[in-house]
Amino acid sequence: MKTSLTGIKPTHLPHLGNYLGAIRPALSLVDQYRTLYFIADYHALTSVRDSDALRGYIRDVAATWLACGLDPERTLLYRQSDVPEVFELTWVLSCLLATGQLERGHAFKDALARGESPNAGIFNYPVLMAADILLYDTDVVPIGKDQKQHLELTRDVATRLNHAYGEGTLVVPEALIGEAPLVPGTDGEKMSKSKGNGIPLFEPPKKLRKVIMGIKTSSESLEDPKVAEGSTVYELYALVAPDEASDMKRKLEAGGYGWGHAKEALFEAVEAEIGPKREAYLSIRADETQLDAVLHAGAHKAREIAHATIQRVRSAVGID
Ligand code: ADP
Ligand code: TRP
Repeated sequence: MKTSLTGIKPTHLPHLGNYLGAIRPALSLVDQYRTLYFIADYHALTSVRDSDALRGYIRDVAATWLACGLDPERTLLYRQSDVPEVFELTWVLSCLLATGQLERGHAFKDALARGESPNAGIFNYPVLMAADILLYDTDVVPIGKDQKQHLELTRDVATRLNHAYGEGTLVVPEALIGEAPLVPGTDGEKMSKSKGNGIPLFEPPKKLRKVIMGIKTSSESLEDPKVAEGSTVYELYALVAPDEASDMKRKLEAGGYGWGHAKEALFEAVEAEIGPKREAYLSIRADETQLDAVLHAGAHKAREIAHATIQRVRSAVGID
């Protein structure tokens, strides 16, 4: 079985965009791949400065993935920081990378373009990410388009190390770029925590309903026929309830069906998808001892793989 690995940065409570764009697709790979999904807590340090908030986000993210169906018996779920071997590999990889390659990193370049002075963590971010991937003999990495450049750098440095020290030392991974379109937020822009346009995953149903009722729509009257394609309500509905989407489209285009009706249908579809997961989330999140035990057990198994890789790399480079 090939290995699929991805990292999740614990920087906020996951929203519906994370669920549809990252969590659901990654969990659908469990039957085809050996899966390793980890919480990239050291990556979060490039932006999170509040230690209590970080502790909370780590558990929020772990509980979310478990509530969404991650089975820790089948998928290794662990914290990046529980496997310190990742830093040994980070160093070896950084000695093979040109600084110019990191200077071309999107996140680093964008921060400079905004006139910021990015920290060295942002500069080195792609090296740590490459180590995250290469440490576990990963074959495929399910990611969003925004991470494509990081995967190219990972492939590049793995190929370079193999070339310098021996073919087969590291597995060269492939990106698995999701087909799913970007999930729009309540304002029609890409749903994103930083834009305040998110649809929460596990808030109480009353709150969820309020957020959905606040989605921006055009202002036709109830009787008017409406254009479904491109409207935020319809696009979200098609992602959450694809089998019923043509029915909503027909009703909107026929007229006599208002945006309020469509939002109500969307609320019900979202609630049907995440309602049962909310209960699971609340109980998993409440038992921090058990949650931490799941993460430690995952880390224990992950470390065995990491240990074998790091031994191979050390001996290849002459530090054994
Ligand atoms: P952002 O990309 O806004 O910083 P996150 O860091 O929470 O959001 O994203 C983690 C992953 O979740 C992304 O790489 C992407 O795969 C997925 N994701 C986030 N927002 C969306 C969205 N609006 N639509 C689809 N996928 C999304
Ligand atoms: N950079 C990824 C993001 O911002 C998170 C991440 C860290 C990751 N390490 C990884 C993703 C390894 C895939 C593989 O979303």
